[in-house]
Amino acid sequence: MSRSFARIAFTPLVQQQQRKHGSRAQYERVEKTSSAGDALGEYETAFIAARDSFYLATVSETGWPYMQHRGGQAGFLHVLDDHTLAFAEYRGNRQYVSRGNLDHEDRVALFLMDYPSRTRLKILGHATAYEGEAAKPYLEQIVTPGDQKIAEGVIVIRVAAFDWNCPKYITPRYTEEQVVKVVAPLRQRLSDLEEENKRLREQLTETVKP
Ligand SMILES: Cc1cc2nc3c(=O)[nH]c(=O)nc-3n(C[C@H](O)[C@H](O)[C@H](O)COP(=O)(O)O)c2cc1C
Repeated sequence: MSRSFARIAFTPLVQQQQRKHGSRAQYERVEKTSSAGDALGEYETAFIAARDSFYLATVSETGWPYMQHRGGQAGFLHVLDDHTLAFAEYRGNRQYVSRGNLDHEDRVALFLMDYPSRTRLKILGHATAYEGEAAKPYLEQIVTPGDQKIAEGVIVIRVAAFDWNCPKYITPRYTEEQVVKVVAPLRQRLSDLEEENKRLREQLTETVKP
């Protein structure tokens, strides 16, 4: 837990609950001794680059939290520098809920999961949506040339804080691609054994022929 994250997440009511349940002193120490924790380091950058999805929480003008899944090629959430993230907004269902919410409140939370390694990263930040000409300099950096999908704009996030959580209670899950890779030697072995079995059967039939 970094100082920056604690400063944002540990509101007076949260602190009140920590006091009530006896954890306040422990977290007060963390707030005093931990690192600032708002600049993305090498580890965070590599972790973000490997993600093919994340969850994005925004806040509506009526005060409701709103969570949406974002997905793309691994690395579609780009680290532009140690305080800045960006991803392209592609034309989708045209509900524009997250996009509309950003016009009211720029504070967002991102939740990134790596199920195989049971690792999760939470990021808090301020998001700005750029469209048209304003989006171009960002899109040139982050959109792969020849991409068939139409980028309507870009969301740029100024990181305010991040925090890693423990792996407890995360069930490891694997993508189809990861499963295919792990199972490939087994499939090969199965195929070799089937071939061998066929050959031996044929030999056996030859031997016992009347
Ligand atoms: C044709 C189509 C393509 C989509 N492609 C993506 C995509 O590549 N990545 C993604 O996160 N969401 C994709 N979506 C989902 C939507 O774009 C969704 O509108 C977007 O996540 C914004 O959601 P919100 O209005 O709830 O904030 C797609 C939806 C449709 C209908």
